[in-house]
Amino acid sequence: MKGIVLAGGSGTRLAPLTIAVSKQLLPIYDKPMVFYPIGTLMNAGIRDILIITTPHDAPLFQKLLGDGSNFGVNLSYAVQPEPGGLAQAFLIGEEFINGEPVCLILGDNIFYGPTLPERLKKAADLKSGGRVFSYEVHDPERYGVVAYDENGKATSIEEKPENPKSSCAVTGIYFFDSEVVRIAKAIKPSARDQLEITDINQTYLEAGELEVIPMKTGDVWHDAGTHASLLEAGRFIETLERLQHIHVANLEAIAWKAGWIDETVLERQMNAYSNSGYGKYLKRLLDRRG
Ligand code: DAU
Repeated sequence: MKGIVLAGGSGTRLAPLTIAVSKQLLPIYDKPMVFYPIGTLMNAGIRDILIITTPHDAPLFQKLLGDGSNFGVNLSYAVQPEPGGLAQAFLIGEEFINGEPVCLILGDNIFYGPTLPERLKKAADLKSGGRVFSYEVHDPERYGVVAYDENGKATSIEEKPENPKSSCAVTGIYFFDSEVVRIAKAIKPSARDQLEITDINQTYLEAGELEVIPMKTGDVWHDAGTHASLLEAGRFIETLERLQHIHVANLEAIAWKAGWIDETVLERQMNAYSNSGYGKYLKRLLDRRG
């Protein structure tokens, strides 16, 4: 399965933070935001990843992430000239997707759960149709919202409804078969002139081909799209590191544990980051080897 991180957009909801810096390069505690969705794709076992950014931010992402070999993945880059909607990722990425199943993750979505990597890997083992994850929220009107029938079967998904039919938001990670490119080509721009991911989900749902997987107790999801959620996500990551010694989205650590990089690469990266907690964590991994 291929992976796409959508890391463009105008970032107006976070202005003036985002006037000079891309939202997805802002810090979530000790790492740039984009590390988290990349780490989530890696946890799903995905190693061929396309990063979609704005034209002016692309060089910064390339400087930060390179070709991905430092953390055992193959990165390529594409630009989205204007924020035309999340579903545009499948049009921009058509050549990259190349007829394979694909997972799209939003560049401001942060996922954590002790058993989540196993479920992500299962979701990535997709032969046909689509899979999305839902999460209970207090403010469903901000998201794509799932409606269910009396048997708990998903019946519709609405984008930012005024009167949400449930408190279950569709999170920003989407697994689809290769049909998604054809579907994205067929949908029409919404009233706000965007190609909506919700229309793609709704198409799969109407065809009886969308699995909506509820996230479990203990799982945490942040859409770091507001100042409050940006801060909350940073605090959460800090608490996990300080009190539980859990390092989310240390990309070299994920790659090392998966056997995707060897000791030479890990050691080089440890030295490159030797003055930060990120590098010290890599040192602890290296000291524990064998
Ligand atoms: O986070 C989950 C939610 O994401 C879903 O529940 C909604 O169904 C989905 O529409 C989306 O809603 P948001 O309001 O959070 O989307 P937003 O416009 O903030 O875009 C999400 C990210 O994608 C953000 O980091 C910017 C980036 N983006 C957005 C657009 C519209 C792009 O890179 N290009 C775009 O054209």
